[in-house]
Amino acid sequence: MTNAGKVYIIGAGPGDPELLTLKAKRLIETSDVIIYADSLVPEEIAGFARAGAQIYGSKDMSLDAIMSVTLQAVADGKTVSRIQSGDPSLYGATLEQMRILESEQVDYEIIPGVSAAFAAAAVLKVELTVPEVSQTVIMTRAEGRVAMPEGEDLVDLARHGSTLVIFLSVTRMFRIANQLQEAGYPADTPVAVVYRVGWPEELVIRGTLEDIAQKVRDAKITLQALIIVGQAVNPSLLDPNSGEKVAVSHLYSDEYTHLYRRAGHGDHADADRADLYAPEAMRFNRKPSHP
Ligand SMILES: C[S@@+](CC[C@H](N)C(=O)[O-])C[C@H]1O[C@@H](n2cnc3c(N)ncnc32)[C@H](O)[C@@H]1O
Repeated sequence: MTNAGKVYIIGAGPGDPELLTLKAKRLIETSDVIIYADSLVPEEIAGFARAGAQIYGSKDMSLDAIMSVTLQAVADGKTVSRIQSGDPSLYGATLEQMRILESEQVDYEIIPGVSAAFAAAAVLKVELTVPEVSQTVIMTRAEGRVAMPEGEDLVDLARHGSTLVIFLSVTRMFRIANQLQEAGYPADTPVAVVYRVGWPEELVIRGTLEDIAQKVRDAKITLQALIIVGQAVNPSLLDPNSGEKVAVSHLYSDEYTHLYRRAGHGDHADADRADLYAPEAMRFNRKPSHP
């Protein structure tokens, strides 16, 4: 393409404008055209655009309409910021946009963002990967209009007993809670539902697989919420007086030698080793017991 502009597919984070990356903000400020997902990206973020930039909200635009605005702008030598919620690589419908950009030989770049999953973990003050509790996070959704590929049903995934982060599914809370219990998660497994994290109306609902669905119904949450399931979101883990025994990572232990530090020699620890956790670490988690 001659005189071609460039497209930036930008992850805007969960909503709080301060969770934009510096790069995302700079690109929004300098772009000629802004197309932002106005269902989950606040107007304030689009508002970083320079005076005179063309701004479109994409929630009522089709893919064809979005790409037609994008391709015309690029042909005119303009820069386009396509702003999406969270990180574009998760449920971002980015592949179909990239395929069109590829076929039209348009220069484009993806700017990662803070996924709602990580913003929710921050609000909950949880570590999604706790030694001896869960070292695996599964990001998924419940089956709805979009069919799940074979082997990816919640029941299949539940077999791992890991931390589950479930997108796009809060309307199916009763079904999810039942399925997970049938798959072996104990009824008292902690669950947190975080509605519109990073927005002024943010709401956190905590419960267990037994009671979370009713709590979500009572709060009238029907969209834009994340569900996080597993012992990693057990609020007692944070409470030093709860009696919960927490296995402590050796990452910063003065007694432990690893790649970047010898025992008793202080700083510069890093976590790229598989053996950073104490072999004698105490087991206290309750993984699903499978029939
Ligand atoms: C189309 S997906 C986009 C996910 C996004 N790419 C991300 O990384 O967070 C939309 C779903 O993500 C979750 N989500 C996105 N933003 C959220 C927010 N601010 N608070 C809670 N959940 C959010 C909800 O499950 C919502 O239904």
